Amino acid sequence: MAKTVRIHEFGGTDKLKIEDVEVGEPGPGEVRLRHEAAAVHFAETLVREGIYFLKPELPSALGLEGAGVVEAVGAGVTDFAPGDRAAYRFNLGAHAKARLIPADQLHHLPDNVDAKTAVAATVRGMTAQYLIRQIYQPEPGETVLIHAAAGGMGTLLTQWAKHLGATVIGTVGSPGKVDFVRENGCDHAIDYRAENFAARVMEITEGKGVPVCYDGVGAQVYDGTVECLSPCGFYVNYGHSSGFLPPIDAMVLNQKSLRFTKASLKDYMRDPAVAKAMLAEVFELLAAGVLDPRISAEYALEDIAEAHRAISSRDTTGSIVMMM
Ligand SMILES: NC(=O)c1ccc[n+]([C@@H]2O[C@H](COP(=O)([O-])OP(=O)(O)OC[C@H]3O[C@@H](n4cnc5c(N)ncnc54)[C@H](OP(=O)(O)O)[C@@H]3O)[C@@H](O)[C@H]2O)c1
Repeated sequence: MAKTVRIHEFGGTDKLKIEDVEVGEPGPGEVRLRHEAAAVHFAETLVREGIYFLKPELPSALGLEGAGVVEAVGAGVTDFAPGDRAAYRFNLGAHAKARLIPADQLHHLPDNVDAKTAVAATVRGMTAQYLIRQIYQPEPGETVLIHAAAGGMGTLLTQWAKHLGATVIGTVGSPGKVDFVRENGCDHAIDYRAENFAARVMEITEGKGVPVCYDGVGAQVYDGTVECLSPCGFYVNYGHSSGFLPPIDAMVLNQKSLRFTKASLKDYMRDPAVAKAMLAEVFELLAAGVLDPRISAEYALEDIAEAHRAISSRDTTGSIVMMM
């Protein structure tokens, strides 16, 4: 038996149940993993509400990303042995003390990456990789706009953009986050709940606007972002923490020849060789100290409702994780 976070209905945090689930022995091709840590993603609050692209059959376990130690392997598993440290992403069931999982969804953890760092920085790190290295890589000296710069994604994007030599303007949702993003590398910090961020960006860039915006916030920043992109600028949306974007109007984009994408990691990691290279780059930058997920809180499995409330209520900085 393993304590597991599950939902039987979509809805609020009251739908989160902690249940004892039979784990059993791994079948052919499977591994039993004892979790040490699991990520806590904003996206998991959307899974709980039933509005994420991955909408599970109910009842369902929660938690998209986990890391731990292999306890047992099923027939035919040759890549993993009991005692190996391993992690995975995009497989619901991470918010559990232990689980079964197909071995081909796991990857080995390097010795210098602990389980806590792995879950805070793998999905987010790989997402930052495709956003900033594959979709739009800023040139040294270019000014970029990063929304929700104090969040899990925003923290890593800022560090990576600075590493590439960009000047970073970061938006944040409260005055308390301004110092955090400055200390994390932002050259300019804008509290977008107190100030008109588009006007400030135009002021900082002396009327030019920014060539790219990395946006995980969506609805509430859409109009302002379009306003402060430079001609031919790239609107890179990868999330909608504040609500769904409006339908994209081609004629609005046409006014400045803007480019727009709404991107998902799943599409950028569909080729296993590419995904492996992306992950290797993230681990390399973690080892070099370029990336740091800035883990600000650790929650016990039993406190999952509190963790969901914290990330939804904009109370967190950096990444938060669950420790088993
Ligand atoms: N497409 C992909 O491949 C991919 C992969 C990973 C994550 N994501 C997305 O990236 C975004 C960030 O994920 P994360 O886990 O790192 O979360 P996070 O950024 O740590 O937390 C979400 C942040 O969004 C901001 N926000 C703005 N309006 C909000 C609102 N109305 N309600 C709640 N938060 C609001 C808040 O920062 P402020 O208070 O500073 O505004 C909050 O801290 C999410 O939208 C997630 O779904 C996408």
